[in-house]
Amino acid sequence: MQKTAIVTGGSRGIGRATALLLGAHGWDVVVNYANNHDEAASVVAEIVGRGGNAIAVRADVSSASDVKELFDQAGRAYGNVNALVNSAGIIRPSLIKDLDDAGLTEQLDTNLRGAINAIREAARRVVDGGRIVSMSSTTLALNPPSYGIYNATKAAVEALTRVLAKELGSRRITVNAVAPGPVETDLFVTGKSQTEIDRMAEAAPFKRLGQPQDIAEVVAFLLSDAAGWVNGQVVRANGGLA
Ligand SMILES: NC(=O)c1ccc[n+]([C@@H]2O[C@H](COP(=O)([O-])OP(=O)(O)OC[C@H]3O[C@@H](n4cnc5c(N)ncnc54)[C@H](OP(=O)(O)O)[C@@H]3O)[C@@H](O)[C@H]2O)c1
Repeated sequence: MQKTAIVTGGSRGIGRATALLLGAHGWDVVVNYANNHDEAASVVAEIVGRGGNAIAVRADVSSASDVKELFDQAGRAYGNVNALVNSAGIIRPSLIKDLDDAGLTEQLDTNLRGAINAIREAARRVVDGGRIVSMSSTTLALNPPSYGIYNATKAAVEALTRVLAKELGSRRITVNAVAPGPVETDLFVTGKSQTEIDRMAEAAPFKRLGQPQDIAEVVAFLLSDAAGWVNGQVVRANGGLA
């Protein structure tokens, strides 16, 4: 049976790799983005070029009406929605004493309100036996200075994951989170020096950063039939960093 997955933040980074992998596995993919239409269009073109099905849909996850429309467009294009992958996210590092209201609001709106908007809509619309996967972060285990608000949003995502898994259990929908370690994407490298990046790669047992594909493989597993007994869990995919 044909299945459809919505990937928020599917235009870049981890979401992009996930969208491409799901497309290669035969999913119909709805590639969500906020601003970068060309990046989203290139993901769609790559999936379609390999014989798959995909559409790009602009929606700001912090807007409940945008997220509703995202699910509406997915439904119009492919019928049922079988899975949501919540990858849209931002980081605005700041010591808590230096926090400005704009950075605070931006992170809460995208990472927390955005995740809530998406999982609420998924709880209403994903079909029985479906899948919901959200991105947390291994920074929750590391507590780096300046990651306070980011970590707070990811802790909330983990809390929501565990509760929603129980709420949707009677419909055999699994709800899980993936907590990547450092992954070489715009989100991770922006604002860091090469020395800092190299130091973080060296800190990991495998002496390298994660790649988006490392995380996409975990998400694809959680969306697969084989993962039907994995529910309410947080999978730390970080090469053994923490
Ligand atoms: N990279 C890491 O080291 C790492 C580690 C742990 C967890 N994570 C988590 O993994 C997820 C993906 O991160 P990434 O590294 O792949 O980031 P990224 O490369 O910066 O990509 C972020 C994606 O999110 C989308 N996005 C941002 N704000 C949005 C909004 N308001 N509405 C809809 N889409 C929005 C972006 O769309 P546009 O292209 O349109 O801007 C882009 O597709 C995030 O939740 C992040 O917190 C990342």
